[in-house]
Amino acid sequence: MKISCPTQVPDLAIELLTPFAKNLTLGDQLRPSEEEVLELTQGSDAIYSLLTAPITRKVIEASPQLKVISNMAVGYDNIDLEAAKEHRVIVCNTPGVLTQSTADFTLALLLSLARHLVPADRWIREGAFKGWDPSLFNGVELEGKTLGIIGMGRIGRAVAQRADAFGLKICFAQRGSTKEFPLASGRIAKPLPLEKLLPQSDILSLHCPATPQTHHLLDRKALSLLPPHCLVINTARGTIIDEEALAERLSQKALAGAALDVFEKEPEIHPQLLKLPNVLLAPHLGSSTHTTRRKMAQLACENLIAVLQKKEPQARVL
Ligand code: GLV
Repeated sequence: MKISCPTQVPDLAIELLTPFAKNLTLGDQLRPSEEEVLELTQGSDAIYSLLTAPITRKVIEASPQLKVISNMAVGYDNIDLEAAKEHRVIVCNTPGVLTQSTADFTLALLLSLARHLVPADRWIREGAFKGWDPSLFNGVELEGKTLGIIGMGRIGRAVAQRADAFGLKICFAQRGSTKEFPLASGRIAKPLPLEKLLPQSDILSLHCPATPQTHHLLDRKALSLLPPHCLVINTARGTIIDEEALAERLSQKALAGAALDVFEKEPEIHPQLLKLPNVLLAPHLGSSTHTTRRKMAQLACENLIAVLQKKEPQARVL
């Protein structure tokens, strides 16, 4: 039985997979190329992947006995699903265990952006603070503003509940959904078509997966529907926003700010975004708590092992 991990993986994964593999092949990089993945994984029965490993058709077809690809992530846009389906390879992911940490982080970005926390920290370290000043770093009050959520899955709903506690009104766009979502305050999150949601959003947060349908969902035209005071938060996937168009609107002050945890050509950051003071950048940290990353590593192992034992995995994409 060959189990391969084409990237570096957490120690816990090695510990849990070792008893099940005659041959456990481990990569030593975090961001291998397709060729490097191919070399490491060929002839595998199972692949344990991080979202940084391209599991392409070529990779899948180089392992004729491949039974499972288990991604240690909720997203799986690094995997060629068509090829996996064609070759009857089961694909698993890690939903659920990262919902709370990702929703927490979304609120952290939202609050930091709305209250200029990062520029204020930088400014104080530069020695600029001379005492309290009523006009210092005035931010945006959340109470009564509208948060537009794109993608009302587990994470979108967890963000809605948190934002509700801050007094934000919630609207959401979710393909195929017309059902209202009740919030703890007694208010209701309203479903809207995207073209109606965007102009109403004082803050917009993305929580949909990266698919061919969501590629550049926020393109130049969609971005132009957002009000100029809108703050955009992206903890989903970079490809959902046309980054070039976003940078352009931010620099023209046609948008007030953006907090981005994910990028179109990760780990490359659009050079214009790096220069803009109204942009908060984070290195893909949404689910990054000790607890969640352990749970993700464990669930990805359990999924993989279940398939090899001919059992139903807990989280199966296909
Ligand atoms: C992180 O981005 C994930 O998909 O789990």
